[in-house]
Amino acid sequence: MNSIFLDTLNKKDTDRPPVWFMRQAGRILPSYQALKKMHSFSDLMNSPELAAKVTLLPINDLGVDAAILFSDILIVPEALGMGLEFTEKGPIFSKPLTQFKNPSQQLIVDRSKLTHVYDNIDEIIKIRHENTPLIGFCGGPLTTFCFMFRGHARDVTFNDAIKFMYSNPSESKKIIDSLTELSIEYALKQVEHGIECFQLFETYGGLIPEEMYKELMLPASKRILNAVREKGIPTIYFPKNFGGGLKYINKDICDFVSVDWQTPIETARYLVDKSVGLQGNIDPRLLYADESVIEKHLESMIPFGRDNQDWIFNLGHGFLPDIKMEKAKFVVDWIKETNWNR
Ligand code: CP3
Repeated sequence: MNSIFLDTLNKKDTDRPPVWFMRQAGRILPSYQALKKMHSFSDLMNSPELAAKVTLLPINDLGVDAAILFSDILIVPEALGMGLEFTEKGPIFSKPLTQFKNPSQQLIVDRSKLTHVYDNIDEIIKIRHENTPLIGFCGGPLTTFCFMFRGHARDVTFNDAIKFMYSNPSESKKIIDSLTELSIEYALKQVEHGIECFQLFETYGGLIPEEMYKELMLPASKRILNAVREKGIPTIYFPKNFGGGLKYINKDICDFVSVDWQTPIETARYLVDKSVGLQGNIDPRLLYADESVIEKHLESMIPFGRDNQDWIFNLGHGFLPDIKMEKAKFVVDWIKETNWNR
């Protein structure tokens, strides 16, 4: 495959940074919104033809350098028997773990809930342009754990989950272990079906103290990422709001780290071990600004892009639904047309 994204992941020199966006497959594209008028989110995910179509929309509409599988991080807890529903207000489990005295005993693996994802990958690979790499993913252990305890779709404080971690460490460990085992199996199946890169979304990585994350969650993240790397597939780890915790990230954990918008990219470069590449990290809300403001910010990243070949351009978190597609297209075109002086 001829791909600037894969070349960068494989630490080859290129004349510009590759670009893709977190949450590019849903949310901002009018072509996606049109499909959403006719089909529910679950319908889109459960039809290989539709899921493949949505996955590839950003390639056509935005011109990004990689596609990310259209799916969701909550599929893994669903396959642990938690009864997932995507409602108007957001995803909700019918059996959040807060209800149970020994919640680890509630988790029973149902692999049939994952098979549609593998069918979707097969279809994407069948219909994509030969030079479009496909990124697979799953949720990080803390982020997934937090959602598993959430009783209400609007609660993003996740206090119930954190309280449980402190008050029931041994049960928490069992839940994290179940989650990790199934995530490894799920990630390896994605590899078997042909993904070229794997990203671990640890979006709520900053909810607990970094030392606690390091002890309880980093080993689990490392196991998932390394299972994929052992198959020769490069990995990207996105521990959002990890702050100073970035200093723990080295080549034993992942190939690239996705940096949030809170951390200046130069600070991340200083903290993360030099053997690990970076991805990121513009504030998605910058795309509410005028093109001249966006352009000024992009220009400020040229020196970093000139000096760092192992950098993938991305957002510091996913698109927000009301961002205009034209702004995203402007960013992609600008990155492709700029002379990065490499
Ligand atoms: O580019 C992509 O969109 C690829 C597919 C993708 C989705 N979710 C589809 C989706 C990916 C990579 C995710 C990751 C995800 N899901 C995360 C981590 C990244 C992040 O943005 O923080 C989290 C925390 C979730 C859980 C989740 N799924 C929430 C909180 C919601 C509701 C709010 C929202 O829209 O994000 C979802 C639903 C969801 N997942 C939608 C999409 C396209 C919206 C469904 C719709 O269109 O109605």
